[in-house]
Amino acid sequence: MNIPNHVAIILDGNGRWAKSKGMPRNYGHTMGAKNVEGVCRAAYDLGIRYLTFYAFSTENWNRPRAEVEAIMNLLESYLKNCQKIAKKNNMRVRVIGDLSHLDSKFQENIKALEESSAAYDGLCLTIAINYGSRDEMVRAMKKMTKDCMAGELGVEEINEEKFASYLDTAGIPDPDLLIRTSGEQRLSNYLLWQLAYSEFYFTDTPWPDFHEEELKKAVEAYSARDRRYGGLKEEEIHV
Ligand code: FPP
Repeated sequence: MNIPNHVAIILDGNGRWAKSKGMPRNYGHTMGAKNVEGVCRAAYDLGIRYLTFYAFSTENWNRPRAEVEAIMNLLESYLKNCQKIAKKNNMRVRVIGDLSHLDSKFQENIKALEESSAAYDGLCLTIAINYGSRDEMVRAMKKMTKDCMAGELGVEEINEEKFASYLDTAGIPDPDLLIRTSGEQRLSNYLLWQLAYSEFYFTDTPWPDFHEEELKKAVEAYSARDRRYGGLKEEEIHV
């Protein structure tokens, strides 16, 4: 089977999943957070090397304050606990997004986790918090412009590779497969640059029910696809 090196996931449907069970939305987020570790393990066992989760978007601040607080608390406690998980599973953890809007203690914990897990060479887990792809590109453009004005970067040096090196995802290969759970079929401002050549897989399964078997189905669907990148595949060239 052709296993994707990097899988990006838009975790969706926590709220609807909880509602279908007659429970409050935040219960869905709690169970959604609980699902993360199992999916990381299943991904690694399948041979996936990079996994990137969309946990909180720049637009998610528009939710009711109590829900935003509950999600932030869940993310904070997951990342605190993640030091142990990273060590146990040899997992490198990175966080992308504009972290300057997060509570300073939360920012310190993220930095400590990134530093302490930097040398682990198992799964590379990336979590997007206060992330929006347009915002990421604007931040990258600002940094590039400053470097140009400081004489550290020449305009002629700017190409796709250079631009990518200014994005939050610098050093992480582009996703081969994007999965979105819970029925919606849109990108919602997620990794717009990085997903240029990725395969997309949409499932009706809500995130809290998306376990190992669902991940395998997505990888099987990916494996059955014919990826061409606009060119011809090796065997077609010699026909
Ligand atoms: C998507 O469901 C969930 C979110 C945007 C909230 C954040 C995700 C978690 C708490 C999961 C934990 C993640 C990590 C990495 C620890 P939704 O609320 O948009 O669901 P709905 O579309 O049914 O309303």
